[in-house]
Amino acid sequence: MRKKIIAANWKMYKTPAEAREFMEKFVPLVAGHERDEIVICPPYVDIAAVVDGAKGTNIKVGAQDVYWEKEGAYTGQISPAMVVGAGCEFVIIGHSERRQYFGETDDTVNRRLEVALEAGLRPILCVGEVLEEREANITEDVLRRQCSRAFRGIGSNKAAKLSIAYEPVWAIGTGKTATPKIAADAHSIIREEAAHAFGGEFAQKLRILYGGSVKPENASELMAQEEIDGALVGGASLKPDSFAKIVKW
Ligand code: PGA
Repeated sequence: MRKKIIAANWKMYKTPAEAREFMEKFVPLVAGHERDEIVICPPYVDIAAVVDGAKGTNIKVGAQDVYWEKEGAYTGQISPAMVVGAGCEFVIIGHSERRQYFGETDDTVNRRLEVALEAGLRPILCVGEVLEEREANITEDVLRRQCSRAFRGIGSNKAAKLSIAYEPVWAIGTGKTATPKIAADAHSIIREEAAHAFGGEFAQKLRILYGGSVKPENASELMAQEEIDGALVGGASLKPDSFAKIVKW
């Protein structure tokens, strides 16, 4: 049995004060919950508030991205060592919004993934097809390409901390959710690619999360699927009671 990871992706929501307020309400709601790993990925400037609020709890913290250089004249960028130093254990890499709005490519995803793993972070690599790709029946090709390019040059010894989130882009923030069958099919393609790159044993242990309009109402159906090893939750993670309900699916 793979322990599920229920992760919040706050995107560009909440000030530090709002993050603190969230933690005050959320922490008691999930106290003692050991069945799943709980992760919150806030904007960089909220990391301190969330790390502080999570002290002494089973809640882990992640960043939403990292740059691939260690340090230097890269105005506005944040390095893996910086987020580790700020108390993050996780980092999201290659989210579709980064790909769509900020010029992220399979190659830059690969560079970020490599440095994140090197820094000891636990990356949540996001892959997923857009609507046109699903309609053109090329979902499988897209997922295989995104995975194989992301994995390029990464040794299986380094990949141990990797998790993947399958996030069909047409389901993100739209209220549309992939059916458990669509998600399970995509997850087995991803698991095959992971087996190809890092070996069968690794692939069996790899956690593959589903993301895209996960809410309290659909969390238990999705999480009950054996192929789904957790959730990456955007909109429904912003309110303490809603995210707590998803955690307790
Ligand atoms: P959503 O976002 O839950 O709001 O659809 C998921 C994500 O983008 O990670």
